[in-house]
Amino acid sequence: MKVREKRDFPVGEVRRFLEPGPIVLVSSAWQGKANIMTMGWHMVMEFEPSLIGCYIWTQNHSFEMVRRSKACVINVPTADLAPKVVGIGNTSGRDVDKFSEFGLTAVPGTKVAAPLIGECFASFECRLIDASLIAKYSLFVLEVVKAHVAASPKYPRTLHYRGDGVFMLSGTNTARYRKHFKAQNL
Ligand SMILES: Cc1cc2nc3c(=O)[nH]c(=O)nc-3n(C[C@H](O)[C@H](O)[C@H](O)COP(=O)(O)O)c2cc1C
Repeated sequence: MKVREKRDFPVGEVRRFLEPGPIVLVSSAWQGKANIMTMGWHMVMEFEPSLIGCYIWTQNHSFEMVRRSKACVINVPTADLAPKVVGIGNTSGRDVDKFSEFGLTAVPGTKVAAPLIGECFASFECRLIDASLIAKYSLFVLEVVKAHVAASPKYPRTLHYRGDGVFMLSGTNTARYRKHFKAQNL
């Protein structure tokens, strides 16, 4: 394979190549109110316990809701929910009840007070287990304490955000390279 010629690129835009996806909807509850925000900046940090790190901007209503309630639900929407995903990211829970505005069903959680979003493919109930990086990086370290996943399809069509209003829709899956993996990396 040939060495590729590359050009200078703005460092502030490298996220277009690194956006991890899938886009998720984070639901939370605090003082009797529920809310939802759209999130792309999350990462897996550990298998057991199941840890997820995620960035929540200080100006988002969800910031204080998750920080104070110490819990949230990470919901995975499928591509058909894209208009709602964008709408939820364009509005704030300070001004609107997003469950009612976007016609989504709040399903009670089993381990946390935050509701699951019924229409999403998967919902992971999370507890905030480390708040020490919030002040410096707005980074919330969450532990998934209960996971709910639809029985099919095995690989849902998820949304992945490339920035600048462009979504990549998850597509082809292949197990062609599985034989090359070390067992511990599967
Ligand atoms: C595709 C997409 C990805 C987003 N990713 C994040 C994110 O990772 N972290 C974040 O703080 N805001 C993110 N946002 C912005 C929030 O969803 C947006 O500010 C929202 O209005 C917050 O709602 P709230 O004020 O009710 O919490 C994203 C928005 C979109 C449309």
